[in-house]
Amino acid sequence: MAAAKQVNIAIIGAGGVGKCFLGQLETLAQRRPSPKLVLTYISTSKKAIYNSDYAAIAINDVSSKLASSSQVPLAPPKLIEYLKSSGSKTVLVDNTSSQDVADAYPLFLGNGISIVTPNKKAFSGSYKLWQDIFSAAEQSGAKVYHESSVGAGLPVISTLNDLVNTGDEVTKIEGVFSGTMSFLFNSFAPTSGKGGQWSAEVRKAKELGYTEPDPRDDLNGLDVARKLTILARLAGLEVESPTSFPVQSLIPKELESVATGDEFLEKLPAFDSQMEETKAAAEKEGKVVRFVGSIDVASKQVKVGLEKFDLSHPIAALKGSDNIISFYTKRYGSNPLIIQGAGAGGEVTAMGVTSDLIKVLSQVA
Ligand SMILES: NC(=O)c1ccc[n+]([C@@H]2O[C@H](COP(=O)([O-])OP(=O)(O)OC[C@H]3O[C@@H](n4cnc5c(N)ncnc54)[C@H](OP(=O)(O)O)[C@@H]3O)[C@@H](O)[C@H]2O)c1
Repeated sequence: MAAAKQVNIAIIGAGGVGKCFLGQLETLAQRRPSPKLVLTYISTSKKAIYNSDYAAIAINDVSSKLASSSQVPLAPPKLIEYLKSSGSKTVLVDNTSSQDVADAYPLFLGNGISIVTPNKKAFSGSYKLWQDIFSAAEQSGAKVYHESSVGAGLPVISTLNDLVNTGDEVTKIEGVFSGTMSFLFNSFAPTSGKGGQWSAEVRKAKELGYTEPDPRDDLNGLDVARKLTILARLAGLEVESPTSFPVQSLIPKELESVATGDEFLEKLPAFDSQMEETKAAAEKEGKVVRFVGSIDVASKQVKVGLEKFDLSHPIAALKGSDNIISFYTKRYGSNPLIIQGAGAGGEVTAMGVTSDLIKVLSQVA
């Protein structure tokens, strides 16, 4: 009798997204008996769980077991050796934001280990890493999917790939790619015309957990630049890095080097007039200001920063911390294909990772 098909799952990262992914993996394993999904490795930056005989790790209480485990993570070459020796197909799920893990993708893929991940670092780092990743996958037949690296679970990357692969001509991509920036500008410059002080909105966003611990990590625009780098590359542009095109930082020069995020928040009110002027200039034209990223494919121009929009524009009318991404293409004409919704959050981000895993399983199992 033929043995039941089995695919091993190795997970790196068990934080906000990682924990939600574990819940979704448990449900998926119950719902779809074939291929049998076996969790064979899981780690955080300091702890790991794996069995030398590849016995399945129970998913339901793995987070608490991980916290008390005395095993330490395996470095990528050792992890690859361990995973390959199992003899089963393996999918690596990278739920970290680690550059070190991202740098090892070509090694994993070259050894036939498929990857699904919400980690932006591998796809928005150097163009060489991007090329190495996809050529390693091409050579070995391993798969690599990263839907949640842009717009969390929103179908942004799959849609762009479908447009490109079916021969549509993508002329422009434009949108609000950061939940933090969306929240900030929707409350600082709402279409209703009111809105709070800039520094007060930044403080509120931090208190509500919408920003990184140091809000400058959102306000410097790099997170949006990373997402634009990924989309521009998928649209066919050889973007060298997220710093190779204009990115507007909303950090006042004088506050770039203050020591802590708290000190930054304390000093930010002194610079409110700069943002007020920007808001007033937009209002004079009957518009609102938003922090957007855009890619003009024909002229190969990528940029990130403040733009003014008519009140009736879909970007102006965005609510809460939603993302919006518009694809202008030859087929869609002057009315773009628009994707909109939550662009952050553990469950929706994990959904993108789980749906990527399902795609990989349908190809490798
Ligand atoms: N949260 C969202 O809404 C969202 C949306 C879109 C995309 N993403 C992406 O999803 C990924 C995970 O985000 P998150 O919010 O879950 O982050 P998080 O809560 O900070 O969790 C990160 C996890 O990765 C582990 N980790 C970090 N570096 C590691 C390393 N070198 N080796 C092994 N484990 C390592 C951490 O372990 P320790 O605890 O030991 O450090 C932790 O378990 C990131 O790439 C993020 O950009 C998140």
